[in-house]
Amino acid sequence: WPGSAQRVDGELALGGVGAAALAAEYGTPLFVLDEAEFRRRARDYKEAFGGIGADVYYAGKALLTKAVAKWVHEEGLKLDVCSGGELSVALAAGFPAADLGMHGNNKSEAELVRALEAGVGRIVVDSFDEIDRLERLAAERGLKPSVLVRVTTGVEAHTHEFVATAHDDQKFGLALSTGAAERAVRRLIDSPHIDLVGLHSHIGSQIFDTAGFEVAARRVAEFLARIHTELGVTLSELDLGGGLGIAYVPGDAPLTPKAIAENLVSIVSRECRAGGLPVPRIAVEPGRAIAGPAGVTLYRVGTVKDVEGIRTYVSVDGGMSDNIRTALYGAEYTCVLASRVSGAEPMLSRLVGKHCESGDIIVNDLYLPGDLRPGDLVAVAATGAYCYSMASNYNHLPRPAIAAVRDGASRTIVRRETEEDLLRLDEG
Ligand code: LLP
Repeated sequence: WPGSAQRVDGELALGGVGAAALAAEYGTPLFVLDEAEFRRRARDYKEAFGGIGADVYYAGKALLTKAVAKWVHEEGLKLDVCSGGELSVALAAGFPAADLGMHGNNKSEAELVRALEAGVGRIVVDSFDEIDRLERLAAERGLKPSVLVRVTTGVEAHTHEFVATAHDDQKFGLALSTGAAERAVRRLIDSPHIDLVGLHSHIGSQIFDTAGFEVAARRVAEFLARIHTELGVTLSELDLGGGLGIAYVPGDAPLTPKAIAENLVSIVSRECRAGGLPVPRIAVEPGRAIAGPAGVTLYRVGTVKDVEGIRTYVSVDGGMSDNIRTALYGAEYTCVLASRVSGAEPMLSRLVGKHCESGDIIVNDLYLPGDLRPGDLVAVAATGAYCYSMASNYNHLPRPAIAAVRDGASRTIVRRETEEDLLRLDEG
């Protein structure tokens, strides 16, 4: 079980609260977020990187609510937002704007204006069009934002192609190989309205080996050194993005923040010293590695259908609207019977949702107890990242609530959507 839950008298307990009590109080499907586990993971990152003078920005795209933003702030992390919506949540939570970083390959004018006016600490620019836009908006307001250039390092991260972001043929960043990154840097150095402070690189997500991170770090550090020598400009910041993988199923062996922190810093330091420039302040942006393992989804079983000779289809009360990752990336998950223990023979099963398509699969292949029946609760592990944040209302399913658990107590941090919420948007 790749999470923090434990069995108490046969029942799964999350943050010390039993699955049945949670389901009874909040209904299902339910996202349960273990606050202590989230904070512990944030702290691990902070200790690994903060100890060597680096900044940690939690990537809000993994999961962002006002409570989450407060935990992130209390643990001493900064916060990366990538849309006006995420920015609103951060500001509504009282997150200091100076500790926010803003991403996005197509930030709208309105989003840039909000970031400028709120005083967002770092804006990561991703295209020449955006540089033009930001320069004009900053000039109009007499502001001079601190900016990083997102650089594409040409690294092929070993992960699903939809979440690999540093090879040349994808939409993010400005390529080192074509000279686009250098042209952007030259442009920004000359800009009277933008303060170019550094470079940014993010190679992808759910990565298990250090090689890709290291190659990317070396390439951006070399580029930093070249800017120093050829353009006579010393940039003081280097953001190396997120991407650390987590365990979803037995056998997944994630790296620890500590394991990458030392390597990255020594690579960057070596390159910079060789280039004769001061070592920049390093930043990282973990999302999944903090939020993922802290979350569990509780579902109630509705039907158990034996397709004879093949497998048993176990249908639950959510599905691809609360977890699109299996359908989208072929993601794997671990699921257990949560409301009781069973000694029944395991049966080959597929955990599916209630949506109107056969691709609505949560766990493709798993063994569940042979006596599973309607009314049982099942728990899917490691759903804290990119599940609620990617949830939809497909088939007009209201999105689940998020309950935070800690020390045997629980509270709603995002309430369950209702059909009235959905109808309220429909103007007839
Ligand atoms: N920084 C930047 C610029 C990013 O684009 C991302 C993720 C992160 C940081 C955080 O990466 P993490 O530490 O969470 O791997 N929906 C996909 C993942 C998409 C990741 C997008 N960017 C999934 O469910 O696997």
